[in-house]
Amino acid sequence: MSGRTVVITGGASGIGDKVVERFLDDGDRVVVVDRNPSPRDVPTVIVDLMDPAAIDAAVNELPETIDVLVNAAGISGKSGVDAALAVNFLGMRRFAEHAVKRMRMESNVVTIASTVGFEWRKRIEGVKALLRSQTLEEARVNVAPFLPEGQESFEAYNLAKATVIVWTMISSRQLVQGMRMNTVSPGPTETPLLQDFYDSIGEDQLDPLKEFAGRHGRPEEIAAAISFLASDEASWISGEDLVVDGGAEGGLLRQKLEAELAG
Ligand SMILES: NC(=O)c1ccc[n+]([C@@H]2O[C@H](COP(=O)([O-])OP(=O)(O)OC[C@H]3O[C@@H](n4cnc5c(N)ncnc54)[C@H](O)[C@@H]3O)[C@@H](O)[C@H]2O)c1
Repeated sequence: MSGRTVVITGGASGIGDKVVERFLDDGDRVVVVDRNPSPRDVPTVIVDLMDPAAIDAAVNELPETIDVLVNAAGISGKSGVDAALAVNFLGMRRFAEHAVKRMRMESNVVTIASTVGFEWRKRIEGVKALLRSQTLEEARVNVAPFLPEGQESFEAYNLAKATVIVWTMISSRQLVQGMRMNTVSPGPTETPLLQDFYDSIGEDQLDPLKEFAGRHGRPEEIAAAISFLASDEASWISGEDLVVDGGAEGGLLRQKLEAELAG
């Protein structure tokens, strides 16, 4: 499989940059969409995903037809509630809804969520509140009841990622008739964003994950999962979330079960 036209948001750094490398190696044509230029020799559409007007304008710079859309742009809760909600969900959804108009049934979308989103069932009321919100102003009001005091921006990130997973599940095969859509949920991964997570979540939460898995993930390992989901090898996988964390969540569960079963 080569010669596809691939649009990658957040392709200027970290996981997104490794996704760019991977598709280029496969012989695909890549366009990056980011607030920063790509360090590679690929066209970049500069856009701030917090700005709806800029997103609407950026769409005119996209290729006429798109085979694969990878939504990799993201920001941590350290950047505040507004950025966590707008970049990770509202801006991603707005951009994707424009981009898919240039996609056909055989094309597909892969969006990066996070292992913090995998407990979306526990957050379903907050997820519905965010799904109902079209603007950041609406989202601020709608999700406020679901952001515990003192943890607003941290929980806004978790809620946005949970919403990415649910939006993907319910939009799969529907946004464009028959089109596949999936998410990849990385655990902690060695990119510039990881330091933000250490600053906002803390080593108490992150180091046990590193211990369970033996190390943190590498961006190319997340890119490999994205490449698989975007390929024809994944032709019957849609509306799914693929966790790529080296087994860290399983380690947490084992610890919890050991304590509960012993008690
Ligand atoms: N690194 C981790 O530990 C980890 C874990 C789970 C999920 N993720 C997710 O993986 C994705 C990629 O993150 P990363 O770790 O590669 O981080 P990164 O900071 O290296 O890359 C993020 C990219 O998104 C772009 N971006 C951020 N805000 C933007 C905006 N307002 N408009 C346009 N572009 C914007 C940045 O410029 C950057 O190129 C994100 O969605 C992140 O939430 C990362």
